Amino acid sequence: MTTPLHNVRRPVAEANGLPNAHYIDPAVFDEEKQALLFSQWAGLAVASDVPEPGDAVPLTFLGMPLLLIRDKAGQVRVFQNTCRHRGMILVDEPRRIAGAIRCPYHSWCYGTDGRLVSTPHVGGPGRNTHEAVKRPELGLVEIRSHVWFDVVWINVTGDAPPFDAAMADVLDRWREFEQPMYHGGADSRFQLSVNSNWKLAVENYCESYHLPWVHPGLNSYSRLEDHYNIEKPGEYSGQGTLVYRQLGNENGETFPDFKGLSDKWDTAAEYLAIYPNVLLGVHRDHAFAIILVPEGPERTVENIHLYYTQPDTDEGLRARNTQLWKTVFEEDIFVVEGMQRGRHAPLFDGGRFSPAMDGATHCFHDWVAGKIETHRARARAAE
Ligand code: FES
Ligand SMILES: [Fe+2]
Repeated sequence: MTTPLHNVRRPVAEANGLPNAHYIDPAVFDEEKQALLFSQWAGLAVASDVPEPGDAVPLTFLGMPLLLIRDKAGQVRVFQNTCRHRGMILVDEPRRIAGAIRCPYHSWCYGTDGRLVSTPHVGGPGRNTHEAVKRPELGLVEIRSHVWFDVVWINVTGDAPPFDAAMADVLDRWREFEQPMYHGGADSRFQLSVNSNWKLAVENYCESYHLPWVHPGLNSYSRLEDHYNIEKPGEYSGQGTLVYRQLGNENGETFPDFKGLSDKWDTAAEYLAIYPNVLLGVHRDHAFAIILVPEGPERTVENIHLYYTQPDTDEGLRARNTQLWKTVFEEDIFVVEGMQRGRHAPLFDGGRFSPAMDGATHCFHDWVAGKIETHRARARAAE
């Protein structure tokens, strides 16, 4: 099964969008899982999900059972959540591991760094070793991971370029925000579930064209003409605004700013889709991260997290800011789901792009098509 992608790779003025199959076909969903998610640096969760050493959270990502854990030394790691003995799931719910990760089946135990540390009765009753069971070779299988912007990024295949090389341009673009950032806590995280392919959430996020109609509230102060497109082929695309206005409480107090930002950020804000599945936003006084978790061709969970420059910001203000963004992201649901339903029209050709307004979306489609072509070429070469 291969879909035609040559039209997608044409210049924006002539290109079509990705064919329908990329939104509705389970076989293409699987192909994209390999080409776009497992072989790239994909967002899995946030490091704030495991704030203390020993904190462990089981997750399922594209069918894979994973364990997100902060080891005793404080390092965030991702393992397959599967025992090396008979393949039992190790951790069933979020908890703090006090000693070791103990498999509930035959009690093999692993350190929080993944080492297999005990194997009770493996050599017969009362004998905890056996020469055939070599502990150093039977640690938990670790998934390559990296933390940036509090996001835990994983590269499942292990062969993507190092994170700093793969993300060099965005790291550079937002270098000024490379400073302490604090998750707002329980009131600063929420989840939205959408009946849509994950790519439609990316496509909608990276353009500002829809603002006047979908976000009338936002558009009342941040108008279409105040926005600019951002395109970095191969890495990210999105939009910026020149008129970010800080939220204030009754007393006129605002969130404290990031330190030492250049003047541009007095009124600017930027929103980038970092390919494949992470949506980030930065402002002078707060930031957010959205991790898109694909649950099937037509189902996506969005995990949203808000961050501040201090650990102890005003609770009421924080709640209002969360509500403000929640309203905006909820306003997007009907278009993301509407585009998904639209993709079942068999004669739809993938659509067209406004060269003036849809560059960021086309940039993403072109990246998707390019990665799939590379993946297909490799698969052919391996035959
Ligand atoms: S399956 Fe884990 S100890 Fe046996
Ligand atoms: Fe939107």
